[in-house]
Amino acid sequence: MKDKIKIFAYVGSCNVNSTTGIIMRELVRCIQDETGLEVVMTEFCGSKCDIKECVGCTQCFVAGKCALDCKDDMSEIRKRMLEADCIILGSPVYFHAVSGNMKKFMDRISYWTHTMELMGKAGITVATSGGNGLKYVSDYLRKFMDYLGVLDVGTIETAAFNKQYMINEKTLDKMQPMLHNCAKAVKDYLVDGHIPAVSRMQKDVFLMYKKRYEELKEYIDDVDEIRRWYDRGFNEYDCFEDALRAIYKTAPSLN
Ligand SMILES: Cc1cc2nc3c(=O)[nH]c(=O)nc-3n(C[C@H](O)[C@H](O)[C@H](O)COP(=O)(O)O)c2cc1C
Repeated sequence: MKDKIKIFAYVGSCNVNSTTGIIMRELVRCIQDETGLEVVMTEFCGSKCDIKECVGCTQCFVAGKCALDCKDDMSEIRKRMLEADCIILGSPVYFHAVSGNMKKFMDRISYWTHTMELMGKAGITVATSGGNGLKYVSDYLRKFMDYLGVLDVGTIETAAFNKQYMINEKTLDKMQPMLHNCAKAVKDYLVDGHIPAVSRMQKDVFLMYKKRYEELKEYIDDVDEIRRWYDRGFNEYDCFEDALRAIYKTAPSLN
């Protein structure tokens, strides 16, 4: 039986008092309320941490590591993501897309999408805006989570306008039902063991990589993502759900 939940949160905003960050912290408080467990949250904010921009060398896909990791905070971020039970990614809407800060973070994690590296973790996306473009950002963050193998336990979207408006407690009050629904879904999965529905995209991505790596393995044997896929035994499963069930049984973070 779990006695604590580890949450990794990345706030993709450069604002020190980020609206997105305020909502994410309130969400974590709701998770604590709902589960009654100790919640250990590791939060990284775009305003505070150092993430260098991807240089596009593509070596991460081949070597399984990024040469920039020793120069900024990404090693620590990766470690915390791997340890977490639940991943929360939040971004303000910047012209109907994620912020540059969030994209920088995603690019550096991108090679993990080729191995569905975070399979089985619970995931929540948070998007904030002045009033439009929320769905584009939620859908994009969700797709990223899908490719990482992270299960969908909730989406938070709010037209928060700006931080002066958000600091108004009534705004957070109004969001309580939405935040508590997410928190309840976290409890259903991580505490009560009800595995959430797997998305169509996750099923398709799994089969796509399985087929691709089977073909490539015939003539390539020194590419990390292929090795990693086989090391995790993913080639032996017929579908995402089978791999997930196996991961669920053995992952210390999920039991
Ligand atoms: C460069 C930039 C572009 C923005 N584009 C949009 C937009 O397309 N639609 C929208 O509703 N709000 C837009 N906003 C407003 C932000 O999404 C909104 O203020 C957000 O809640 C800020 O979150 P933060 O305090 O966490 O940084 C934009 C803000 C900036 C700085």
